[in-house]
Amino acid sequence: MSKENYIFETKNLSKFFRDPVDFQALKNVDISIKRGEFVSIIGSSGSGKSTLLYVLSTLDTDYEGQIFLDGEDLSKKTKNQLAEIRNAKIGFVFQFHYLLPEFTVLENVMLPALKLAKYPEPEIKKRAMEKLEMLGLADQADKRANKLSGGQQQRVAIVRALINDPDIIFGDEPTGNLDSKNAQNVFDTFKELKEKFGQTILVVTHDMALAAQTDRSIRLHDGEVVK
Ligand SMILES: Nc1ncnc2c1ncn2[C@@H]1O[C@H](COP(=O)(O)OP(=O)(O)O)[C@@H](O)[C@H]1O
Ligand SMILES: [Mg+2]
Repeated sequence: MSKENYIFETKNLSKFFRDPVDFQALKNVDISIKRGEFVSIIGSSGSGKSTLLYVLSTLDTDYEGQIFLDGEDLSKKTKNQLAEIRNAKIGFVFQFHYLLPEFTVLENVMLPALKLAKYPEPEIKKRAMEKLEMLGLADQADKRANKLSGGQQQRVAIVRALINDPDIIFGDEPTGNLDSKNAQNVFDTFKELKEKFGQTILVVTHDMALAAQTDRSIRLHDGEVVK
């Protein structure tokens, strides 16, 4: 199959909410993301973008159809296996960054790696500093997260998402809370990650000017991919 080419694939992916009424939020979604692609998901409010990202990121396992990450069928995994896959292979950037305000920038970036515990702490610290440097944030490392500007905090959240060298980074409106200059800054960061490191990125945005800067847009309408 397409294991080598696609880092991520869905087949006939559907999602139903049962409460308060039966409602199909995703309808037979088939998408394929190539390694190193920077893809945006667009569509009006309520079209299913967040639902799709939530299911793709393995946080919601109540779906029908299949999701393949690196050729592995996620629908066949246990909760524990999914948690491992998520920690090791998936990075998230949300609209609100969820940095721990009382912790330093460096500590925030290190946390997901300490949780994964693949490397000893000094190694994690070194890797975190390298990544902060990569995005021009090394001089902020020892500041408390709540001392940074909104745009800087969101870029720290991107560094945090990168710490375990994920196969793919998901963003759900990561610029939704930023002014246009900072939003552009965040997108420039994504572009840099793609161009320099071949990072695969899937980002929801309703900003068409930002979406136009990605390799390709997938449009959702009423839970369906618009052809
Ligand atoms: N937990 C839920 N229970 C019931 N319906 C939901 C739930 N979450 C989302 N929905 C519905 O699913 C549809 C898609 O929502 P969402 O994925 O959040 O849209 P988007 O992110 O594109 O704005 C909407 O009609 C929304 O009301
Ligand atoms: Mg949403």
